Amino acid sequence: MPLISPWRADFPGILALEAEGQTYLDSAATAQKPQAMLDALLGYYAGGAANVHRAQHLPGERATRAFEASREKAARWLNAPDTQQLIFTRSATEAFNLLAYGLEQHFQAGDEIVISALEHHANLLPWQQLALRRQLKLVVLPLASDGLIDLTQAAQLIGPRTRLLAVSQLSNVLGCWQPLEPLLALAQAQGALTVVDGTQGVVHGRHDVQALGCDFYVCSSHKLYGPDGVGLLYGRTHALQQLAHWQFGGEMLLHTDYACATFRAAPLGFEAGTPPIAAVIALGASLDYLNSLDAHAVNIHELALHAELLNGLQQRQGVRLLGAPNVALASFVVEGVHHADLAHLLTEQGIAVRAGHHCAMPLLQGFGLSGAIRVSLGLYNDGADVQRFFTALDQALELLQ
Ligand code: ALA
Repeated sequence: MPLISPWRADFPGILALEAEGQTYLDSAATAQKPQAMLDALLGYYAGGAANVHRAQHLPGERATRAFEASREKAARWLNAPDTQQLIFTRSATEAFNLLAYGLEQHFQAGDEIVISALEHHANLLPWQQLALRRQLKLVVLPLASDGLIDLTQAAQLIGPRTRLLAVSQLSNVLGCWQPLEPLLALAQAQGALTVVDGTQGVVHGRHDVQALGCDFYVCSSHKLYGPDGVGLLYGRTHALQQLAHWQFGGEMLLHTDYACATFRAAPLGFEAGTPPIAAVIALGASLDYLNSLDAHAVNIHELALHAELLNGLQQRQGVRLLGAPNVALASFVVEGVHHADLAHLLTEQGIAVRAGHHCAMPLLQGFGLSGAIRVSLGLYNDGADVQRFFTALDQALELLQ
């Protein structure tokens, strides 16, 4: 029986692409959106746009209520204890930059920030640049051959100079869940702050920040079937209190004159200026939609699709998988074939996969590669999408090999 997604028809984008002859297998880069989210986005504008947190008029109150309702939904989605612990940024990347700037005064020369070898640029460059600004040491945890962060080496590298650990829950290239619990415990034993990059993990069923026990958790709306332009930053209350304000402007202040100002606490103190109002409201609709689904059924469907993908790749000669993916995606190269040539032929056949360094250049370099092909799945993909990919792959490889 071919695998059929019962949710496909809820996503007009996937149907439109299909009608155009495109097979969308790049959901780890950005996901298609459910109709409910599109309705909410349009509904906010069509019903009368207004700014939030600053107007007493009816449209302003209505927009503020809808905006704050989304904060509640997002906090619930992440199982944050309090809505006030959830900051909306303009992207996950902005959330990491907020942390790196907001925590800057927390570090002294010689302190260590620990990341891992699989971080994508958003969870690498803000820390690397902070380390350069403050003369800190950036320590990179190596990976074992299965693509998991090597815990034995982590135990040696996380030490008394470690002030912060920032690691990904699920790599956007290797697609394997990382052993976060022991890693966070190692950092916490040293009194270090912990940051979890949940940009991929949040989409595939692990999004309980209290169970994780991290100080900060970062993810983005657009990979979670929501609109782009919104990032989410959860923080434990004591961790949020350590953040210095970093962007200054409207609504993040308590009082100002020409000489100085005092600022609000989180979340509003970190949401300077007009936020992405429509997008935040629409994210709430995406979360309502996801909450309306049977999470277990989604998980089973995604795992079955992923198994088909992995089986197919493993059966093909010359295909080398990166790491040992266990959910959502698979990255690979083919012996004797340049990834860009393969990507070109796949694109010509209407297969939308990602090719290149996947915003994780040092990780690819570690594999001795300048790039790879990545196939990534969303809950709307059918077995037929995976089959179309393999038909196109076989045709391309016949030409190239
Ligand atoms: N980090 C995103 C990806 O993996 C953009 O494609």
